[in-house]
Amino acid sequence: MEKLLFVTGNQNKVKEIKAILGDTIQLIGLEEVGWTNEIPETTGTIQGNSLQKANTVFEKLGINCFAEDTGLEVDILNGEPGVDSAIYAGEHKNASDNMALLLKKMDGEMKRSAQFRTVITLILNGEQQFFEGICRGHIAEKKSGEGGFGYDPIFIPENYSLSFGQLSPRVKNQISHRGKAVAQLIQYLKNML
Ligand code: IMP
Repeated sequence: MEKLLFVTGNQNKVKEIKAILGDTIQLIGLEEVGWTNEIPETTGTIQGNSLQKANTVFEKLGINCFAEDTGLEVDILNGEPGVDSAIYAGEHKNASDNMALLLKKMDGEMKRSAQFRTVITLILNGEQQFFEGICRGHIAEKKSGEGGFGYDPIFIPENYSLSFGQLSPRVKNQISHRGKAVAQLIQYLKNML
């Protein structure tokens, strides 16, 4: 069985994709290869950071792997917070601080369109492939819902009236940026392996 490393410390993400891939591929996370080093994310773009994460690990371990990077891009803010989504309000701030800052910047703004964008970089037999997933929507006036993480309580996907924080994980996965990028990755892997 082919081994494929998902460059993430998040075992839930590994589990989620493992369930979809079935037995054709043995998916492992960083924990299983004993990786404890910081992985730099310094390129300034979502695609660049996704590639940087995959490359860092591939160069050290030389095994087939993939990495993902995600950001929330608000149209009227020229794509902010984008690649800085995790640290928008500062290095030591949390999701609540990030949302508060974004809501403040959007105060009184009528044009609230935005998107989540995920880029997955796969390095398979030394070759790079990118898979992008976009979910369009808008920034709500205020938070709603307890589910999800990050900016979910203030993001309302297109064709829905509820935020990602209110929608079930099943619905979110079906329409989300990450869900779409992962679906492409899985299709690609199923054809290749
Ligand atoms: P990462 O690349 O998945 O680590 O995501 C970077 C940041 O984007 C996270 O810290 C979150 O703030 C935000 N983010 C990523 N994906 C989502 C999502 O699905 N919902 C809400 N926020 C997200």
